[in-house]
Amino acid sequence: MVVIIDQTKLPNEVVWVELKNTSDVASAIKEMKVRGAPLIGVTAAYGLGLVAFHSKSEKREDLLKELEKAAEVLRKTRPTAVNLFWAIDRVMKRARETSGGKEELAEAVVAEARRMADEDVEVNRKMGKFGAQLIEDGDTVLTHCNAGSLATVDYGTALGVVRAALEEGKNVKVIASETRPKLQGARLTCYELMRDGIPVTLITDTMVGYVMSKGLVDKVVVGADRVVRDAVLNKIGTYNVAVLAMEHGIPFYVAAPTSTMDSSRTSEEAVIEERSPIEVTNVRSERIAPEGVKVLNPAFDITPLEYVDAVITEKGILYPEVLLKFAEK
Ligand code: MRU
Repeated sequence: MVVIIDQTKLPNEVVWVELKNTSDVASAIKEMKVRGAPLIGVTAAYGLGLVAFHSKSEKREDLLKELEKAAEVLRKTRPTAVNLFWAIDRVMKRARETSGGKEELAEAVVAEARRMADEDVEVNRKMGKFGAQLIEDGDTVLTHCNAGSLATVDYGTALGVVRAALEEGKNVKVIASETRPKLQGARLTCYELMRDGIPVTLITDTMVGYVMSKGLVDKVVVGADRVVRDAVLNKIGTYNVAVLAMEHGIPFYVAAPTSTMDSSRTSEEAVIEERSPIEVTNVRSERIAPEGVKVLNPAFDITPLEYVDAVITEKGILYPEVLLKFAEK
């Protein structure tokens, strides 16, 4: 079985949930018990691992069919984070290329999921080291949503940069925007930073302009769900932060592993997940809007690359000139 922390319950309760099959894994991703691009990818890979591990099929071809079926279910969970598709494709490729019988195939699938989980931590640490070069002693870093250890297997992407800078002995503080409607900033970023003794101040999304205008932010570092040829797709509200950062001359950095890069698409071709209106009409369980009101609830937005000063990857820092080449591909 795969064991996850149910992130919908944080920070009030730390509840561990057992995922036993594809349907458990698909629901956990859809309901955002697990969330964050890299973690969604690795959880889906483990979902395929569960199929392989528990399969009663005797023939390799039958197990492959079971895996294909599970992959289809997992692909339909959330459309925006490319890591989900990257992870499923990688495990399926591994499965198809593994020679031998059912046993060898099952072992290869489970091993690939494990490898991806280990690699995720390694990649975040590498990204952190590169990103820390951009952070100075005494900086206050504003981040949006949660791109931390909770959004990954461990360490985090954007928060990995903060962690690495702190490990280098730099004095760094974080401002976290609450991230309406699902409050990942308030609930998750503040939780994990406080748990780890990293100084954090919470603001509402509407306060970003004010704190920037008051000189309280030195750098912005956010994660990404998909970096396409012309833009960064990340949590709704990221675009607001980027525009405000440019207006105030504050560097805007995106920390994203290469598994989040999608040079095959432009922002027009990528799907922005639209979630249930109830997330907007209600704050947690309390209704705050009149019954019957029309609602828009895009879960992500599109920040054109012109607003991005650098994308930090595990292979190095991509500055605008290189990003432009990525755009031409
Ligand atoms: O809807 P979520 O909570 O899955 O969205 C998460 C984000 O937008 C993160 O910023 C992104 O996945 C990067 S996580 C390392």
